[in-house]
Amino acid sequence: MHIVLIPGDGIGPEVTAAAKEVIAATGTHIDWIEAPAGLAAVEQFGDPLPESTLDLVRKYRVALKGPCTTPVGKGFRSINVRLRQGLDLYASIRPVKTLPHVKVPFTDVDIVVVRENTEGLYAGLEHEVVPGVVESLRIITKPAAERIVRYAFEFARHHDRRRVTFCHKADVMRLSDGLFLQCARQVADDFPFVEFEERHIDNVCMELALDPTKFDVLVMENLFGDVISDLCAGLVGGLGLVPGANLGSRYAVFEAVHGSAPDIAGKGLANPIAVIRSAAMMLEYIGKRSAAERIERAVCKTLEAGVGLTRDLGGDGTTRTITDALIRHLAV
Ligand code: NAI
Ligand code: MG
Repeated sequence: MHIVLIPGDGIGPEVTAAAKEVIAATGTHIDWIEAPAGLAAVEQFGDPLPESTLDLVRKYRVALKGPCTTPVGKGFRSINVRLRQGLDLYASIRPVKTLPHVKVPFTDVDIVVVRENTEGLYAGLEHEVVPGVVESLRIITKPAAERIVRYAFEFARHHDRRRVTFCHKADVMRLSDGLFLQCARQVADDFPFVEFEERHIDNVCMELALDPTKFDVLVMENLFGDVISDLCAGLVGGLGLVPGANLGSRYAVFEAVHGSAPDIAGKGLANPIAVIRSAAMMLEYIGKRSAAERIERAVCKTLEAGVGLTRDLGGDGTTRTITDALIRHLAV
């Protein structure tokens, strides 16, 4: 099986290398096809997302990706936006679940964030109208709104989930979220056995802080999904833990919720669990469910044992020590 590996920037190469080791330790053989993206690709190709990288994902269809740095307010457009649009990876799926022995205020959080991944405010369509006045376009289209809500309902149905909550701000963005909401209601009609709920995004934030166990599947626009994903990651112990998948009808790119963490990059301190769990989602996607389940179990056992954990988990270990612990727990 060939899989494209995009190491990315910052902690990306460190955490994706750990994921490769853990997959190999399950006995699953993968032929990794390394493809550049991010700052390294700019130096090499003059483009942070070379067409050759997109072509490799088109050829092999599945990729594991490390985070890529996007400069703030200058330089190139977000690589992630280009990658997701270029491969039409319209659904971002982020399972957020309480893990054993991670100190957090809530137990039993089990939320899946389904984020529209191709349009909305996050697409970054901006221009200067006149000096001192800029405009950001928030494009919402009926086909994109319908397919993401449909994805959320299909996901709920296949995973025995009770409720889909559509999060919006249609009282203020009456046209754009108004259209999204209308699409959501129509799609919900096709799934009478899954409960449908519509809520204002700001209210969802408050409820998540008070009692996140109330929620099941959340579906929303791109930028809302970006913000809510980090919030939800915080509820279960932070960005070092939460995995993700970007899925389309042809291709799939698996990556953690977190970014390139420049503050700890190159120091061997990053927690690789988020990208390792993204790799487990990838293994499940390619039909290697038992290897995926073994990795998930090893993550739980590693947290339970509490040895070699990285600083974000309250330990004094490194990427190396936690990867070794994960590999040890795969064996038992
Ligand atoms: P970030 O997620 O990189 O870091 C936020 C905080 O969480 C930092 O203190 C960092 O040290 C910590 N953190 C993140 N991942 C961690 C891990 N695995 N282990 C331990 N600690 C971890 O977010 P930030 O700082 O907003 O963005 C940094 C860069 O990453 C930016 O250039 C941004 O555009 C990019 N980014 C890329 C993403 C992607 O490629 N999918 C996603 C999010 C951000
Ligand atoms: Mg984000």
